[in-house]
Amino acid sequence: MFRCFNLLLLLFCLVYHSETSTISVSGKKGGNIRLRCEHEDNNIVQIDLFKQPDNISRLISVCETEECSGRVFKEGNCDVVIKNLIFSDAGNYTLDIYYNNDQTELKPNNDRIVPIEQKKWTYRLHIDDEISVKTGEELKMSVLVSDADKVKTNSSGEWKEVWTRDHGVQSDRMNDDNDGNLIIKSFLDSDAGTYRVLDTEGEILITVSITESGRKSPKKMDDTEQHKNWIVPVVVCLVILAVIVISVFIWRRQHRGHTQVQQTRHRN
Ligand SMILES: *[C@@H]1O[C@H](CO)[C@@H](O)[C@H](O)[C@H]1NC(C)=O
Repeated sequence: MFRCFNLLLLLFCLVYHSETSTISVSGKKGGNIRLRCEHEDNNIVQIDLFKQPDNISRLISVCETEECSGRVFKEGNCDVVIKNLIFSDAGNYTLDIYYNNDQTELKPNNDRIVPIEQKKWTYRLHIDDEISVKTGEELKMSVLVSDADKVKTNSSGEWKEVWTRDHGVQSDRMNDDNDGNLIIKSFLDSDAGTYRVLDTEGEILITVSITESGRKSPKKMDDTEQHKNWIVPVVVCLVILAVIVISVFIWRRQHRGHTQVQQTRHRN
C-alpha cells in the first residue's frame, strides 16, 4: 500500500515536472533571446546547453561573457543569451546546471567530496519575422531548417500545406533548393499571408508574416531606360560637335598661317 503510494507520488512528480519544464520563448529574427534559469546562488560549477534536433542532442558552447566570437553567452548566474537570432536557432533546448550545494561547510584544505547537484530546464524557441515584398519580386525564405517537417500558409484564406519534408513543395507557386530556401519566383499579392514552419510534433518553429508592399513598377524601369536612351545621343552629339570645333580651329590656324606666308612672300 505504502509502496503504491510512493509510486503514485513519483508518477505525479514526473508529470508535474514535465508539464512545467518546457518554457516557450519567442524571438525576432536578428534579435536576442534570453533563456532564464532562475538559480539564486552563485555556486554553479558547470552549464551545459543542448539543442535537440529530434533525438540527437548537440552541445552548444556558451561563452562566459558577451565579448566572444560566438552568438551564445552567459548572463547573470546561469541565464543564456542567444543574439542575432537566425531561423535555424528555432527548436528545443535543454539547459543543465551543476552546482555545489555545500559551500559553507567546505574548507580550503578539506579533501571531502563536495556534493554536486543538478537542475534542468527545457525551452522551446520560436523565431518570427515580418517581410514586405513588392509584387513581381523574388522572395527567398531560409525557413527549411533541419527540424522543419512542414510549412503551412493561410495566404488563400485558409491554412494549407505548401511543403513537407517527405514530399517537398506542394504548391505550384513555390520552389525549394538544397540550401534550405523556400522560393516564390515572382511574388503576387495573393501570396501574402502568414507562413508557419512546424516540426515533427506539429509545434510551430518559425512564423513569417508576409505583406505586399506595392508593385515593382514597370513605369519606373521605362523611365530609367528612356534616360539611358536620351543620354547616348547627347554624348554622341557633343563628341561630334567637339570634333567639328577642333577641326575648324585647326583648319583656321593652318589657313591663316598659309595666307601669312603668302603675304610675306608677296611683300618680298
Ligand atoms: C493569416 O493568419 C494571421 C494570424 O495568424 C492573420 O492575421 C491573417 O489575417 C491571416 N491571413 C489571411 C490571408 O487569412
